[in-house]
Amino acid sequence: MKTLRTLQELSHWLAEHPQPALVPTMGALHAGHLALIQAAQAIGQPVLVSIFVNPAQFGPDEDFADYPRDTEGDLAKLEAAAVDAAFLPHMAEMCPGNRKPKLPVLPKVFSELEGEVRPGHFAGVAQAVFRLFQLIRPQVAFFGQKDFQQTVLVRWLVRSCGFETQIEVVPTVRETSGLALSSRNAYLSEQERIAAASLYQALQAGQRRYAVGERNAEHLIRTVQQQLEAEPAFESIDYVDIRGPHFFDKVHWVAKPSVLVAAVRMGKVRLIDNVIVG
Ligand code: PAJ
Repeated sequence: MKTLRTLQELSHWLAEHPQPALVPTMGALHAGHLALIQAAQAIGQPVLVSIFVNPAQFGPDEDFADYPRDTEGDLAKLEAAAVDAAFLPHMAEMCPGNRKPKLPVLPKVFSELEGEVRPGHFAGVAQAVFRLFQLIRPQVAFFGQKDFQQTVLVRWLVRSCGFETQIEVVPTVRETSGLALSSRNAYLSEQERIAAASLYQALQAGQRRYAVGERNAEHLIRTVQQQLEAEPAFESIDYVDIRGPHFFDKVHWVAKPSVLVAAVRMGKVRLIDNVIVG
């Protein structure tokens, strides 16, 4: 595996491996990231994994400084997974001259849900993904369903900036308890980890209600909300909602496959998750 840190190293590698499959990450790699890598390897292109803890997508009160970082451990995992190259840019490569790329104005939907709780988050994600796509011109890029609203953002970015990259979304990898894997789960105590599985269980309760015929989004949302309120470890609920899978528009009546999303707070950790209904 090649480790690329500079633009020169990247461009030499790309000259021999044009249009690779890209898996963008912020490191602290876990089995969810590895599922993205496996999906990327299945298409037969060389696989490039980027690791960049992108300051632009963290709010001033968020955990940028404390975000779990383990470059050596990550590189060992990528090597073991037989990835072709790892790209570990510094700020200078990602933000030359500290200038932000000029991007189209983000649609309103990205100031809702995660975008409302984390103002500026999606603008920051868009900057990092734009820069990676601009430098790498991947044929395909892989993202996790875990961050559903982020996949909607990336598809919007590709359309509105004219990238030719194909976007693939990989199902969420979970612990046996149902808890979605996340780098931030490292902050959870053993007890919190057990309670955290209640988020997925609440979403599944919504799915079950759909399965027995409920199509009114408000009723499905209330089912999930009530179950989340019953978990004493959850200090507050940021949101529960049902959205369309393409544009994340509000759904009132679930006539087509839709995304049931929720986010809660537990101590200093926020948990987000989603399931498909329909
Ligand atoms: P990060 O949180 O490191 O996640 C990298 C990718 O792994 C994302 O596409 C995310 O959705 C996916 N992922 C995380 N947990 C997963 C799980 N349990 N199952 C499946 N996929 C999972 O998301 C980011 O980084 C950043 O915002 C980034 C896209 C790299 C831009 O900075």
